[in-house]
Amino acid sequence: MIKLTRLRVFVFSAFVVLLFLYYLYRRLAPPYAIYATYTQKELLASLSVIEERPTAKYVLFRQLQGAGFNNQIQEILLFHHLALLTSRVYVYQPLIWQKAPRRASLPLSAFLTGVTSTNSISSAVFDKVCPPSAVVHVSLSRENDALWPHARDVLDGPDRCVVVDDHILHWGFLASAALRPIWPTFRYYLGEHFKWSSHILQMVQRGRPTEVEPYMALHLRRGDFEDHCRGLASSQTGFTTWATLPELADTVFPPLLDTQNRSSVMEHCFPSLSRILQAIDYQASINPHITTLHVLHDGAWDHPTVYLQYYKLEAAFHSRERVLRVGGWAGGPMKVVTHSGSLPVHNGESDWAVALDVQLAVDAAVFVGNGYSSLSTDIIALRLAKKGSRTKDITLV
Ligand SMILES: *[C@@H]1O[C@H](CO)[C@@H](O)[C@H](O)[C@H]1NC(C)=O
Repeated sequence: MIKLTRLRVFVFSAFVVLLFLYYLYRRLAPPYAIYATYTQKELLASLSVIEERPTAKYVLFRQLQGAGFNNQIQEILLFHHLALLTSRVYVYQPLIWQKAPRRASLPLSAFLTGVTSTNSISSAVFDKVCPPSAVVHVSLSRENDALWPHARDVLDGPDRCVVVDDHILHWGFLASAALRPIWPTFRYYLGEHFKWSSHILQMVQRGRPTEVEPYMALHLRRGDFEDHCRGLASSQTGFTTWATLPELADTVFPPLLDTQNRSSVMEHCFPSLSRILQAIDYQASINPHITTLHVLHDGAWDHPTVYLQYYKLEAAFHSRERVLRVGGWAGGPMKVVTHSGSLPVHNGESDWAVALDVQLAVDAAVFVGNGYSSLSTDIIALRLAKKGSRTKDITLV
């Protein structure tokens, strides 16, 4: 008798565990069938570009393989821009997804339709138009200031099939002043050619915190960032990419960044919750009509403490007493607060959730971000590329 009961308990438990695993699978499983369709379309579109443009010149760059989503996106957009500037077809590569526990090559068109539909082909068909015997290999590395002009010169040249062997858009270059001369044309490029895939755009439609009301977006960069920031403080590193633009200097929440001072770097790179609240208070006081806030964060099963910090902030945003105490929020406390984890992301859509977050922050009336984060700086670039954008609607903590 006893044995039979135990068996039943065992069978029942196993059933519950399987059910849970199935639920997780449904929730997290990437849309492989949809990706296969995107890949198929990429191949067909690429073949027709090759056929329609017999005299086209091509460039294939050495790209990041599996860094953060926004690091890859930023680099791909800059390379596509460089290819267009030098009248070459951009040979795009898959997005390398590397978020534990999965590493996978995903078709780029499932994310960036703008890149894959404008003067570009997939690397999968590159050797159809540029067999190894026709390829010219080049190295473009130079001092930061000379790099971009040199790359333009070489790519303006007559060789039909160019493969760039060295990785040129490295971290040091992206954080240097050499990026500034690229901004005017890159801004224009983003306005003309940046476009998410239709799947992502559908999610954006569905995911807006409010249908019509303006909202504020906050990027709470936590997770593994504290150690990273300590390293940046030791190496006296400043903001990254577009956060270094002189026109954004006024957006930095005081006291200003002093890279010689470790505490100053930590204050901007890994701001305390109270500093984040002060930045929100500042924007709320000059934008009293905004009573909705969306918080982008990197809370996940491997960074559970981020949720704790998020909930502390949320309580503060909702607190009438605190708002009265700090004064100045004419609109009162935030009435609606949403966050990355509360967005309506359906089964199989989790790969795209990060793009949804980016776009919600691009569309927000006000953005409070982190000048050390490439997610924040991608958002800033996309915001500034829009007509009617204003730097005063941005605060860098
Ligand atoms: C370094 O930065 C911290 C934080 O902003 C500030 O309190 C401190 O006074 C600064 N120290 C110096 C020597 O400037």
